[in-house]
Amino acid sequence: MPNVVILGAQWGDEGKGKIVDLLTERADAVARFQGGHNAGHTLVVGGQKTVLHLLPSGALRDGVECLIGNGVVVHIGQLLKEIGKLEERGADLRARLLVSPACPLILPHHAALDAARERGPSAIGTTGRGIGPAYEDKAARRALRAGDLLRPKHFTARLKELCDYHNRALQDFYEAEPVAYEDALEQTLGQAKHVAELIGDVSAKLCELRAQNKSVLFEGAQGMLLDIDHGTYPFVTSSNTTAAAAAAGAGIGPLDLDYVLGVSKAYATRVGAGPMPTELHDQTGELLGERGAEFGATTGRPRRCGWFDAVALRRCRQVCGLSALGVTKLDVLDGLDTIKICTAYRHRGANLELPPYGAEALAECEPVYEELDGWAQPSGGIRELEKLPENARRYLERVSELCDLPVDIVSTGAERSDTITVKHPFAPA
Ligand code: IMP
Repeated sequence: MPNVVILGAQWGDEGKGKIVDLLTERADAVARFQGGHNAGHTLVVGGQKTVLHLLPSGALRDGVECLIGNGVVVHIGQLLKEIGKLEERGADLRARLLVSPACPLILPHHAALDAARERGPSAIGTTGRGIGPAYEDKAARRALRAGDLLRPKHFTARLKELCDYHNRALQDFYEAEPVAYEDALEQTLGQAKHVAELIGDVSAKLCELRAQNKSVLFEGAQGMLLDIDHGTYPFVTSSNTTAAAAAAGAGIGPLDLDYVLGVSKAYATRVGAGPMPTELHDQTGELLGERGAEFGATTGRPRRCGWFDAVALRRCRQVCGLSALGVTKLDVLDGLDTIKICTAYRHRGANLELPPYGAEALAECEPVYEELDGWAQPSGGIRELEKLPENARRYLERVSELCDLPVDIVSTGAERSDTITVKHPFAPA
C-alpha cells in the first residue's frame, strides 16, 4: 500500500482537510509533519462541522492511527483541547495518537513574541500563534521539546532560562509585558501529565507500518507558497511545506513517499500580507469570497481572492514532484460568465513561466490571463466527472494542461461525499 502526501499547492486553506479525511477511509495512519496550530482543517461529516488545528485530519476516523511528527511545533494546551473535543464525541483518540518527543513546544512567550512583532512595521499577518518564535528556538537549539516534558526537573530549569531570555526581548526591545515564569511552569507541567502517555517514537512507528505494508497519509499544513525557502519570502510561514518536508518532519526516507497530491482551489486565496499576482479587487473577488465562505479557519480573517494561478502551481509541481492535482471548490465558480486562468507573469518585458523568488520581484509581476467560458448549471454536489457541466470539465482540462498534471480528485462541496474521484491515490498504478 502506498504512502501518500497531501499538501496545499497554494497559500493554504485549499481544502486539504476534507481530502485527507476522505482518503483516510483506506489509510491506516495519518501523520502531520510541519506547522502547528496555525493550520485550520475544516471537516464536514454528516452535516457536522469540525475544525482541527493540530490533530491530523484522520482523527475523526475510528481505527486510524494519528501521528504528530518531529517537524510539528506543538502547543500542549491546544492538543489537549482538541483531544477533549473529539472524546466528547465518543472518539477513542488517545489509544491511536502518538506525538514525537522531538516536537518543539510552543510556550506562552512564543505567542507573546509573535504578537509583539506583529504590532511593528515588519508585520506579515501571522496567525499570532507563536509558530515563528517556536521554530526560531528550534533552529537556535534552545527549544524545549515534547520529550522534555517527561523530565520535570530538567524542564523546570530550562523553562526558566528560556523565559528570562525571551522576557528581555519582550520588555526591552518590544516594550511588551513579560511572561510570568511561574504561570508558564504551572500551566505546562500541569498539562504534561495528560500527554506523557502519548509521546513516542513516530519515526519507528512509520517504519513499522511500512514494513507491514500499511499506508500512511502525510498531511501538509499551510501551502507550498508559504514554504520558508520556496514561498513568497518573507511573507511565509516558518517551516518547509513542500513534499520533502514530509520525510524530514516525520522521520522516514524520501523514497518511502509514493504519491504526492497537490490540492488547489479552482481559484486562489491568501490570508495575511504578501504578493498575490492574481488577486481581484473587484466585485468578482468579493463574489468568490462570499460564495466560497472565504474566512480563515484559524483567525477568522477574510481571505483575499483571485483567479487560478498556473504559474505558481508550476513551481509547486516542480518543488514537490507532484503526482497529481486535487481541485477543490469548483462549485464556487458556478454561474460566472467567464473565468480567467493566469498562464504566465509579465515581468520587466518578459513572460515568465515560473514565479521569481522573493516577494519584491513577485510584486512586480503582472498576470497574463487566458479567458474561458463559464457554466450556468450548478456543479455543487456532483460526484461523477461526466455529470459536470461541459465547460466545467473543459476548465479542469485546461488547468491540467497548463500545470502538466492530471486532476485526480475534484471537490464539489463541503461534505465528504461531494467529491469526484477520477483516480484514487491508493489505486494500483
Ligand atoms: P504563521 O504561520 O502564523 O507564522 O503566519 C505566517 C503566514 O502564513 C501568514 O501570512 C499567515 O496568514 C499564513 N498562514 C499560516 N497558517 C496558515 C493556514 O493554515 N492557512 C493559510 N495561511 C496560513
